[in-house]
Amino acid sequence: MSLKVSKLAKKTTDSQHEAMGFISDKITNIFSLFSFASRSRELKQISHFLQNDTAKKDYDWVRYELKMAFVGIFFYAIMLISLFLFMIHLRRINAITIGDFVFVMTVTFFIVDNIWKLTSEVGDFLGKVGDFKSSFSILQTPQDIIDKSGAKDLKVTRGEINFRNLSFGYKDGKKIFDHLNLHIKAGEKVGLVGYSGAGKSTLVSLLLKNFQTNGGDILIDNQSIYDCSSDSLRSQIALIPQDTMLFHRSIGENIGYAKENANQSEIENAAKKAYIHEFITSLPEGYDTLVGERGIKLSGGQRQRIAIARAILKDAPILILDEATSSLDSHTENHVQESLNLLIDDKSKITKKTVIAVAHRLSTLKHMDRIIVLDKRKIIEDGTHEELLKIGGYYQSMWNMQAGGFLPESLEEINK
Ligand SMILES: Nc1ncnc2c1ncn2[C@@H]1O[C@H](COP(=O)(O)OP(=O)(O)OP(=O)(O)O)[C@@H](O)[C@H]1O
Ligand SMILES: [Mg+2]
Repeated sequence: MSLKVSKLAKKTTDSQHEAMGFISDKITNIFSLFSFASRSRELKQISHFLQNDTAKKDYDWVRYELKMAFVGIFFYAIMLISLFLFMIHLRRINAITIGDFVFVMTVTFFIVDNIWKLTSEVGDFLGKVGDFKSSFSILQTPQDIIDKSGAKDLKVTRGEINFRNLSFGYKDGKKIFDHLNLHIKAGEKVGLVGYSGAGKSTLVSLLLKNFQTNGGDILIDNQSIYDCSSDSLRSQIALIPQDTMLFHRSIGENIGYAKENANQSEIENAAKKAYIHEFITSLPEGYDTLVGERGIKLSGGQRQRIAIARAILKDAPILILDEATSSLDSHTENHVQESLNLLIDDKSKITKKTVIAVAHRLSTLKHMDRIIVLDKRKIIEDGTHEELLKIGGYYQSMWNMQAGGFLPESLEEINK
C-alpha cells in the first residue's frame, strides 16, 4: 500500500509543478494579460486546472492514506484483541501470573505503538520519495549537447569560419538547413539577410553550439567546434542577440558581465562607445541603478545598447550582430554604427575581427565585404552589395522596396 502512496504522491507533485508552470508563465506574460484584458479568463483556467487536476490528485492521495490507516487499525485491533483473549485464557488455566499478564500487555501496547509510528513514517517516507522523483525528473532531462570527454580548448588565431554540409532541423520541425556550405574567410565582414524565419538566428545558434546539427560540421580555424569545449568556443565569440535579456542587477554589473573582473573605467568606456553613458549618468543612481527583472525598466533601444556595450567590452575575435541596431532610432543608430565600425575595424589589432551581421535594414549591411542571402534551406545569393544589385534577385528587390518604403510578403511576390 505504501508503494501505491508513493505513486499517488508523485502524481500530485507532478500536477503541482504543472500548476506552478502555468502560474509563472502568466506572471512572465503579465503585460499580455493586461493588454488582452484576459485576467478573468486566465484566472478561470488556472482555477479549473487546480480544481480538476491538482485537487483531485491530492484528494486521491489523502483518501488512500486514510484507507491505509484504517487497514492498519483493523489489523492492530485484531492482533490486540486476540492477544488479550489469549492472555485471559492463559490466566484462567493458571499458566501465567497477573504480573506476566500486565507485563505482556504493556510490552505489546508499547511495541504496537512503535510499529504504528514506523509504518506511518514509512508511508510518509515513500510519499516523499514520490515527491523527490517528480522534482528530480527535471535534473534527469538529458542534455542535447554535452562536450565530448577530453574536449580541447578552441584556439582562434585568425577567425576563419567554415560551415560544411550543414543540415539541421529543430526537433519535430521541418528542416532549416539542407547541406549548407558557407566559408567565411578570416577577418571577413559578412552580412546575412533573408526572410523572417529563414534561419539566420538559427545559424548563429549553431555556431555557438546551442544545438546539435543533424549532419555536417562547423570549423573555426580548422578545428571542429564539436571537438572543443563550449566555454572556450563561446569565450571567443561576442554576440549581440536579437532579444537582449539582462540580469536583475545594476547597469554597471550588466555591462561588466562580458568580462571577468572588468573595472569601472573599462565599463564606462564601453558604455560611452555604445552611446548609453549619458543616459546612465542621468539616472539618480547612475551605474548602480537596478534594471529590473530581464531589464524591464529599460527601453528596447537602451537594452540593445547595453548588449552592444557588452560586446565592445568582451572584444572577442569573432563578432556576431543579430539585428544589433534594430531597436534604435536612425540618429542613435548612426552613432552606434560608428562605434561598431571601430570595433569591427580596430586598427590597433593585428588580426581583424571576423564579423557576421544579421539585419533586415539592408542599409546597415551595405559596407560589408560580402552579403549572403538565405532562403529555403540554402544560400541563394552571395556577393558584395554592388554585385547583388546587378544580378537582380532577392537582394535587389529588397533593396529597391526598402528604398520605396514597403516590404514584400514572399519571394513569389518579388518574382511577380
Ligand atoms: N527553439 C526553437 N525550437 C523550434 N523551432 C524554432 C526554434 N527557434 C526557431 N525555430 C524555427 O526555426 C525557423 C528559423 O528561425 P530563426 O529564428 O532562425 O529565423 P530568423 O531568420 O532569425 O528570423 P527573424 O528574421 O525573424 O529573426 C523558424 O521557422 C522558427 O519557427
Ligand atoms: Mg532572427
